[in-house]
Amino acid sequence: MYPDRVVSGMRPTGAMHLGHYHGALKNWIRMQSELPCLFFVADWHALTTHYDDPSIIETSTWDMLVDWLASGVDPSQSTLFIQSKVPEHAELHLLLSMATPLGWLERVPTYKDQQEKLKERDLATYGFLGYPLLQAADVLIYRATLVPVGDDQVPHVEMMREIARRFNHIYGKEKGFEEKARDAVKKLGGKRAKIYMELRTAYQEQGIVESLEQAKAMLDDAQNLSNIDRERLFGYLEGSRKLILVEPQARLTEASRLPGLDGQKMSKSYGNSIALREDKDSLTKKIRTMPTDPARVRRTDPGTPAKCPVWQFHVVYSDDKTKQWVQKGCTSAGIGCLECKQPVIDAIIKEQEPMHERAQQYLDDPSLVRAIVADGNDKARKLAQETMRDVREAMGLSYS
Ligand code: TRP
Ligand code: SF4
Repeated sequence: MYPDRVVSGMRPTGAMHLGHYHGALKNWIRMQSELPCLFFVADWHALTTHYDDPSIIETSTWDMLVDWLASGVDPSQSTLFIQSKVPEHAELHLLLSMATPLGWLERVPTYKDQQEKLKERDLATYGFLGYPLLQAADVLIYRATLVPVGDDQVPHVEMMREIARRFNHIYGKEKGFEEKARDAVKKLGGKRAKIYMELRTAYQEQGIVESLEQAKAMLDDAQNLSNIDRERLFGYLEGSRKLILVEPQARLTEASRLPGLDGQKMSKSYGNSIALREDKDSLTKKIRTMPTDPARVRRTDPGTPAKCPVWQFHVVYSDDKTKQWVQKGCTSAGIGCLECKQPVIDAIIKEQEPMHERAQQYLDDPSLVRAIVADGNDKARKLAQETMRDVREAMGLSYS
């Protein structure tokens, strides 16, 4: 009943690095041409771990947005917005919190993992416990069907599905639903009512999906039905409840194959990263000084690419011919490490050229980014408000 829609967010960590690009951003860029996408800066999520240090949120948000645009996220295809500018996320988060069992949140693996990893931070807060629930609100409020995330986030999407199911179960119930649905069937008129009931039986008893589709098409065409009756009849086809929230699915982002300069995971805080728009000289210097196979002390010592982080860069950036040249040259000490690194330097420079170009207009005129986001905020807000109307009604809050 609800069409495919993609939603994903990132915490405002500031300028992006190549790990982000080869991990998440390339995936977003691929999806935006296939499906309607909403991508947002999860600025509230930043506060769940760094509530005592909000000073960096603003600059990080704009820096990150410029990098999204530079990398090819296209505002004419995707909706780009900022979480805190769509306050409906907070309302849904609050309402969902009423019926969310504490155990569900305590059992999310990132809860304990992060508390152990980030020992220096105070994560014994209500906000941090609620992190995955806020994330659920981010997605459910758009009735998104697909959520591109890394594998650490898959349990969060699992929980979103449970939250949506529970919500529909508790609040999708209408007093006297069966009776009202049967009255609505009568309003279809004798012949159509009969066909509707036959299609419903065919779907419910034999799982014939075409029957379901046919019945839905018939409801779409039934002019004399009120919207509420049509909703009921949609719900009656699949069970005896209204579908208010949609269960989303994780679309796994392939882990970035690009490690940091030292072979560990690329991360700004490890000091091993290359920015998405690195300055040419600094890029060249970083690659030229990056560590290689420790066994190659002298130029005449043969090496093993599998033990060298530079090789991982060749895997991502080089064609087969270059890779063969590296394998042969390294193991026979036929090439030097600086020589080996040059094609990587050239490839990254080439990859970054269009990014520098795209970014330039936004750096020259920051109001362009503001305008793109203002437009995105409006679009997102409209969608969020539609869902919230249904949520409030289902929860008995639409009185005045
Ligand atoms: N938790 C995500 C992360 O740390 C960021 C995020 C917040 C998100 N809300 C979301 C991702 C909604 C996908 C959908 O990467
Ligand atoms: Fe690494 Fe290349 Fe040097 Fe071999 S030749 S150790 S792959 S940089």
